[in-house]
Amino acid sequence: MSRATHPATYTPFFTRRRGTVFCEGVSLPAIAKSVSTPTYAYSRAAIETVYHKLDGALNAALGAIPHSICYAVKANSNLSILRLLAAMGSKFDVVSGGELERVRRAGIAPGRVVFSGVGKSREEIAEALRAGILLFNVESPAELDLLANEASRLRRRAPCATRVNPDVVAGAHPHIATGRRHHKFGVDWHVARRLYLEHRDSKWIAWHGISAHVGSQVLSLTPYRQALQKLAGHVRDLAAHGVKLRYLDIGGGLGVRYTNEKPPAFSAYARTLARETRGLGCSLLIEPGRAIVAVAGVLLMRVLYTKETRGKMFVVCDAAMNDFMRPALYGAVHPITAVVQKGREGKVQNVAIVGPVCETGDVFHDTWPLSRVKPGDVLALWGAGAYGASMTSNYNSRPRPAEVVVEGRRVRVIRKRETRADIMRGE
Ligand code: LLP
Repeated sequence: MSRATHPATYTPFFTRRRGTVFCEGVSLPAIAKSVSTPTYAYSRAAIETVYHKLDGALNAALGAIPHSICYAVKANSNLSILRLLAAMGSKFDVVSGGELERVRRAGIAPGRVVFSGVGKSREEIAEALRAGILLFNVESPAELDLLANEASRLRRRAPCATRVNPDVVAGAHPHIATGRRHHKFGVDWHVARRLYLEHRDSKWIAWHGISAHVGSQVLSLTPYRQALQKLAGHVRDLAAHGVKLRYLDIGGGLGVRYTNEKPPAFSAYARTLARETRGLGCSLLIEPGRAIVAVAGVLLMRVLYTKETRGKMFVVCDAAMNDFMRPALYGAVHPITAVVQKGREGKVQNVAIVGPVCETGDVFHDTWPLSRVKPGDVLALWGAGAYGASMTSNYNSRPRPAEVVVEGRRVRVIRKRETRADIMRGE
């Protein structure tokens, strides 16, 4: 089989014992029973282990080069997940006032926050200035003007980097490639350079860094190498012109294995970062999101119906595209398996797995090998920890799923299932 249809790679946090899938010490059917479906379930140990592995690889390769992981909040912005990462020493990358507020509500000091994004509003800029964040990644001359204005009004010097468009090819799908010349993100180097020099002695703009983000679900180290070489050259050029930068922020994007992808090992990634930044005199910031949380989570759903139409078998589930957007939005392939497979393993059939939403695109899989299932059976969609819950919507007036984190034998609800009253509030 060309595709890994069984997510065996996700062990040891998810295991199959006598036919039933467990997350750490709790069986997935037990979670579906107690919290109902659809529900996101995350393994705390998985998140911790992956974080420590990445941190360890960076420490080993970078040695004396100072560096920080700034977790990209957009990947999974649940307050409990943010607290968990903060406790391990993570810093954070936010892209809106809402994400900044989440980080602060999680009790995290704003000094651990970098603010990226192509459309920061005046209010968001003022809020971040007042809070005293670590770094603004500025994405246009107009944004820099606004930032300088607000900084002077609030009498707070703004710690800034420009986000340079690295013009490299990376990212698994056109919609998550961000680093090409024609994309909306960042500014071209010649524009950034002019901004650094024009504001070199500015009272309100403090040039602290330079940043880039090459893309997402990146499976090769080449774009990182290329972007880092460009940024390192810019850092040296600016230093020669009296602008000494403290931070080099290479963004996020490191890919994960959903089916048969082969993402670079953390150690190789870290060595690439080390090789390209040694001797620069900058602290390195990275903004991983997916790499930290993706494989730590599953989306649990129940089979509502099965039906055969013109020889095609449909499995209709209680989770839909608005509970997990990636297949509909990017054609992403996420394995789906039954969480109980006692003695039925042999009877696998190709089925379409679909949700109840009134859209032709509400399909998790058009053809997927699944063991025989019946209404009420629980399915797990794998690799749902990143860009799952954070991208849900209420389309078709469907309340958003619950989220739970498993800690050994304990299940903690970290977001209640929405109610209908929740979704109509404010109308
Ligand atoms: N930093 C910046 C400036 C970003 O724009 C992003 C993601 C990240 C960091 C984190 O990237 P990561 O390490 O998670 O790849 N919804 C899409 C992904 C969009 C990513 C946008 N930017 C998906 O589900 O694949």
